Amino acid sequence: MDIPALQASWRDVEEVGDEAVLYFYSHLFTAHPEVRAMFPISMATQRGRFFAALGRIVSSVDRIGSDPSFVQQLGRDHRKFEVVADHYPAAGASLLATLQYFLGAAWTETLAADWAEAYGVVAKIMLLAAEENEMDAPAWWEAEVVGTDRRSIDVAVVRLRPTRPYEYTPGQSFAVEIPQRPKLWRYYSPANAPRADGTIDLHVQIVAGGQVSTPLARQVAAGETVRMGAPIGTALTVADQFRGDLLMVAGGTGLAPMTAVVEQLDAEWRATGANANVHLFHGVRTQWNLYEHGFLTEMAETRPWFRYTPVVSEEPTFRGATGPVGAVAARAGDWRGYTALVCGSVAMVEHTRDELTGAGLAHTAIRFENFDPSGAADAAPPADTGHEVPTWR
Ligand code: HEM
Repeated sequence: MDIPALQASWRDVEEVGDEAVLYFYSHLFTAHPEVRAMFPISMATQRGRFFAALGRIVSSVDRIGSDPSFVQQLGRDHRKFEVVADHYPAAGASLLATLQYFLGAAWTETLAADWAEAYGVVAKIMLLAAEENEMDAPAWWEAEVVGTDRRSIDVAVVRLRPTRPYEYTPGQSFAVEIPQRPKLWRYYSPANAPRADGTIDLHVQIVAGGQVSTPLARQVAAGETVRMGAPIGTALTVADQFRGDLLMVAGGTGLAPMTAVVEQLDAEWRATGANANVHLFHGVRTQWNLYEHGFLTEMAETRPWFRYTPVVSEEPTFRGATGPVGAVAARAGDWRGYTALVCGSVAMVEHTRDELTGAGLAHTAIRFENFDPSGAADAAPPADTGHEVPTWR
């Protein structure tokens, strides 16, 4: 397979934009009208989500060999759409038809064969993982909303209690569907390590026009039921025996997976006395969005291994660190030897990665997820969180 050719041809089709997206869905829904019901009734705000993810992942097929776990998780997660084996050739055919239509003469037999092979590799891993999972887990979980704690104008903490056991690793995410917005699944990250009572807290950024996060924070009442997809994501998880030093850089509600990992490490420290050094930078625009300030300050005061720096970007009078969180974190220490976990909007993650590599951290030491539904998913930036699909790194 000629991977650079796959990626170059995907970039060409991405440049076409909306027209390619429309072509893809028209092709898919005309050839297979039965799959239309899996997608939201109105696709106006998010029609690019599936198509963009599909092309990006398939054209990066070479990365799957070393670690198929993300694609396996994606396959299990797709059970919530009620995707079955027959749907895979259908989506593959529409993807290839779209590429063929827009690439014109550049669509050679060799390129077509490479795309078909790459799609086949990804589809097979997803499908096998989904099938193996059928015995052990439901296609989705139901969870009762326990309550919502409005922490600031912009942020709410929503507590869920799944009706059956839900296993996840701190740092992972899952998709949520609320009764008010059928088929509009959005990803959130549990903000806590698994608890004995099974409850899970979500940090929800409220943004004007946000299609899911805003009603999740404001309308979904205690006692209502939401659906949850399978846990997904590997970038921000930390193995139980991890002993290296961690630099955590979070933007806004990108804090959620960090607090979950901090709780995981804390439990280990209390049990064994051993821990990594962790320094967490939480960046927000205005200080009232430091919505976990109390908890994190207390942790920093009582845990010898934990440091916390709040960073505010749009309030020069803030009596603490000010500026973009990535720049503040990069300047704050010598991070060589550290592993960095970064989570926030696409722009925040990109900026932080640049700053950290500029400060001497290797690319391979920086692990990240974008929590940013800005693009197609919800309203305009700064975006609610749910985040875009967990990123393919
Ligand atoms: C290689 C095969 C596939 C890959 C890599 C893939 C990947 C993805 C990804 C990453 C997303 C999440 C996008 C997001 O929420 O931001 C997604 C969404 C989705 N996928 Fe797939 N998928 C595949 C096959 C399929 C098939 C065969 C179907 C069924 C026809 C399907 C149905 C959907 C639906 C309904 C969504 C939600 C779309 C929306 O919210 O608008 N996928 N897919």
